[in-house]
Amino acid sequence: MAVSYVLALLALHPEWQDAAHQELKDVFGEGDDYLRAPSLADLGRFGVLESIIKFFPDPQRFDPSRFLEDRVGKEHACCYLPFGLGARNCVGSQYGRLQLKVYLVDILRRFRFLPCSRREVSFSLNPIKPIRVSCMPLDGPRA
Ligand code: HEM
Repeated sequence: MAVSYVLALLALHPEWQDAAHQELKDVFGEGDDYLRAPSLADLGRFGVLESIIKFFPDPQRFDPSRFLEDRVGKEHACCYLPFGLGARNCVGSQYGRLQLKVYLVDILRRFRFLPCSRREVSFSLNPIKPIRVSCMPLDGPRA
């Protein structure tokens, strides 16, 4: 679900998709091993992608810049709640976040997501207004 929503939002916000693609190039380089499996150290270098994954405050507005390094630390630590908080918070939050990054770096190295398509994107939880997205394989040997 989270991966699907990230991809749909990136289709609607090409400036952030470009920033994610730039970060992929920065981390994986542009050579033959661009599609190599990401290491744990690689995954730690995705500040932009991580900001894209999170959502808060003003959650109705897609603005990953609120999570970029120079803007963090201004909100209260208990404001960010997608994994709950306290004694019964999500035990899989670290793993879930890592898994999201692994999926997204693999998908985004191969495809570009565009708004509009005849097909309607459908999730098990559906957005109020349908989000239409199409997926274009990236050119060249890397894709
Ligand atoms: C994006 C991925 C995920 C999200 C957004 C998410 C979110 C949540 C939330 C909101 C809760 C309730 C916390 C509370 O009541 O305060 C929760 C609980 C839990 N989550 Fe996740 N979760 C994710 C992935 C995972 C994964 C990958 C695992 C296991 C590998 C996992 C295992 C659990 C467990 C066992 C609980 C119950 C903890 C308890 O009641 O003590 N979650 N999760």
